Amino acid sequence: MAKGIYIHTFGCQMNVQDSEKMTFLMGAEGYEPVISPREADLVILNTCSIRQKAVQKIMSRLGRLRDLKRRKPTMIIAVGGCLAQQWGKEFLEKADHLDIVFGTHNIHRLPEMVRKVREGGGRVSDISFHGSVPSLKIQASPEEGKVGAYVTIMQGCDNFCTYCVVPLLRGPEESRPLDEILAEIRCLADRGIREVTLLGQNVNSYGRNLPGGASFARLLREIDDLGVMERVRFTTSHPRDLSDEVIGLFGRLRSLCEHIHLPVQSGSDAVLTMMNRGYTRDDYLRKVEKLRDVCPDIAVSSDMIVGFPGETEKDFLQTLDLMEKIRFDNLFSFKYSEREGTVAVGLPGKVPEEEKARRLTILQGLQDRHALERNRSWEGREVEVLVEGPSKGDPREMTGRTRGNKIVNFPGRGEMKGRLVKTRIVRAFLHSLRGEPVAEE
Ligand code: 5AD
Ligand code: SF4
Repeated sequence: MAKGIYIHTFGCQMNVQDSEKMTFLMGAEGYEPVISPREADLVILNTCSIRQKAVQKIMSRLGRLRDLKRRKPTMIIAVGGCLAQQWGKEFLEKADHLDIVFGTHNIHRLPEMVRKVREGGGRVSDISFHGSVPSLKIQASPEEGKVGAYVTIMQGCDNFCTYCVVPLLRGPEESRPLDEILAEIRCLADRGIREVTLLGQNVNSYGRNLPGGASFARLLREIDDLGVMERVRFTTSHPRDLSDEVIGLFGRLRSLCEHIHLPVQSGSDAVLTMMNRGYTRDDYLRKVEKLRDVCPDIAVSSDMIVGFPGETEKDFLQTLDLMEKIRFDNLFSFKYSEREGTVAVGLPGKVPEEEKARRLTILQGLQDRHALERNRSWEGREVEVLVEGPSKGDPREMTGRTRGNKIVNFPGRGEMKGRLVKTRIVRAFLHSLRGEPVAEE
């Protein structure tokens, strides 16, 4: 009889893809996905360590599994991902109902570790780093019926922004060979996938450590040349490494969507220096200007941190000013969270929690205004929507995304799923647009 696997994924898209890889690997061992931990023989928490809030959520999730395991002692509980990498064996001490700890470079070992526990081999942990990440090669199987899929093009990060734990937990940058990526995209297209998101901590430095002159621009061009993928996006980009060559591809490559996620983190030069970001606010403004020159409709989204050590009121006002100048389509904003092992831990000028909260509220209020304004600029225009399927509450309502990554809801039929539908935007909201279908593929 098949055994059940339940994976709870925390954190970024990288983790979502790693979870898909885990599902694929355990599928070969006879484990099939189930919809709740109660039905599972194997529960995996794929963890994140980017902010303290993520850690709290994970620990409360893990705590709730304790009772379940008491009632079903054969259940195996594993933790993987960034927090597992950070805590290693200590995780087993923190939670006595945990069986397996596997790090970011050890996903490929999951089947073997599960087998060992089942055979009575006791609790296991492996957070060793490998020169090359073995799981980079594993092709994940996207969920049945999905229109879009992720493709990992690189893993790790060499940047060492002073606030960030990721380089410590995911290891140095490693790019996947270009041919392997192209083959995966062809294969996804054969299975009906129409949109891929290329994943990496810093996709702009793709190819740096590969022989043969691969670069991110070349990768985008070669994917476009395949002619099999309707839409291509990528995340995440470092502004310093976004080349003019890549900027020039927007609006020129048919498959490349008019959307870029370009995390800025702060609008103050002093803070950017303390963060070790390697660009100034002017550099950033100029890059966005160039992007809009070559592609006026491009949607720009970003990440922002408030309350970094030493951030003064004046620095914060600079951030608001940068937002006024750019007017982001979407912004993910966070209160600075101190991470063990990072350089920023030793920086003076800690900002009190209440002050961080105050700044975040102001910033998010401004962003809401900008997001609504940007969305309203689409009212009356016709856009191409890739339909993801019926919306949750109402089967007569379809939901999909524009090339600029805006969610559009419109009246339609289930068979529109996976198709391109031209819709006229009749109303804009803060987080979505309302459309009316005009023509379909
Ligand atoms: N505190 C707050 N936000 C952080 N991020 C990364 N590290 C931290 C931290 N220590 C944010 C950055 C990054 C996003 C993924 O998470 O904005 O771009
Ligand atoms: Fe979280 Fe960063 Fe790890 Fe993604 S790479 S899971 S965001 S810590």
